[in-house]
Amino acid sequence: MQNVLTFSLSIFLMVFTQQISVAQPIHQMPTLGYSYDALEPYIDGQTMEIHFSKHHQAYLTNLNKALNGTKAEKLPLELLLLGAERRGAAIRNNGGGHYNHTLFWSILSPNPEKSPSGKLADDIHKTFTSVDSLKKLLNNGASTRFGSGWVWLYVTPEKKLAVCSTPNQDNPIMDAAKENRGIPILGIDVWEHAYYLKYQNKRGDYLGAIWNVIDWSKVGMLYENALKDPLLKDIEKDDWTALKEFHLVMAQTFHPMEEGKLEPIKTRSGEMLEKAQILAKSKVPTTFKSDAITKALTDLVDGSAKLDKLIKKKGKDDKIKESLTKLHDTFHVIQGLCSDDH
Ligand SMILES: [Fe+2]
Repeated sequence: MQNVLTFSLSIFLMVFTQQISVAQPIHQMPTLGYSYDALEPYIDGQTMEIHFSKHHQAYLTNLNKALNGTKAEKLPLELLLLGAERRGAAIRNNGGGHYNHTLFWSILSPNPEKSPSGKLADDIHKTFTSVDSLKKLLNNGASTRFGSGWVWLYVTPEKKLAVCSTPNQDNPIMDAAKENRGIPILGIDVWEHAYYLKYQNKRGDYLGAIWNVIDWSKVGMLYENALKDPLLKDIEKDDWTALKEFHLVMAQTFHPMEEGKLEPIKTRSGEMLEKAQILAKSKVPTTFKSDAITKALTDLVDGSAKLDKLIKKKGKDDKIKESLTKLHDTFHVIQGLCSDDH
């Protein structure tokens, strides 16, 4: 009997230990794909080693630490970045640091394709007239970035190519990027840790040299992927401030009502109507424009006006509940129509 118990306990401990050992954080270091000194003489081995194994590793460690045990722990990195400003400094800086460096390593190569081809080449010519003028724009953005940051070539929600620079570890996916939002396909790190050991204060020399190791075939692949990435639509929706503001009032009144509390909607029905009117008048993002959205926005204003009137006339609780539930359904027509399946 004792043997059976010992055996069962060993099996239990084995399974339990295995379960602990496989519980890895979802965000992991990428594989570099080339040796630290492979990009010499343009980027020296010591800089690469410190940059990858110390700086990038620290962003990742701190990101996982900030996420540990939170609701956001299982979110894909891109969706974390989408709301980086609202999620706070730890996620914004370390999530950005992890994303930006992962992209950076992936577009560097000891055997790079030295110029773009295919659709990327065509669209660069259409947007910037030539690859050289694009490089000039990027180098100019990088050399005028005060302090630390990045310069980006990115794809806008309208699927256009654009250039911007961001401070610290921000990037165009983030809400913090304001009017420069999109999916980055080429990024240059202009933190001193990226070049100081070899170039010291000469950021311009580093910017001149780095084009020798940027692999345009990789940038081209990232471009093709970005053009079909549902994240573009998420960014556009996240930028629709009036929708977010209405959503907030709806969430803060509808959910208490589900728990039997009508006080929030009774005190905020006027504000709800005002937010619905602002939403209906706001610029609907291009990719969401449709007759169904236009109708739902009109219904939302009508529904909010009826609910507000009912509350001002001290209508019955049952009627208020019914009216708010209907309005919530109308709102989810907009949310649903805007949503992607991923
Ligand atoms: Fe860096």
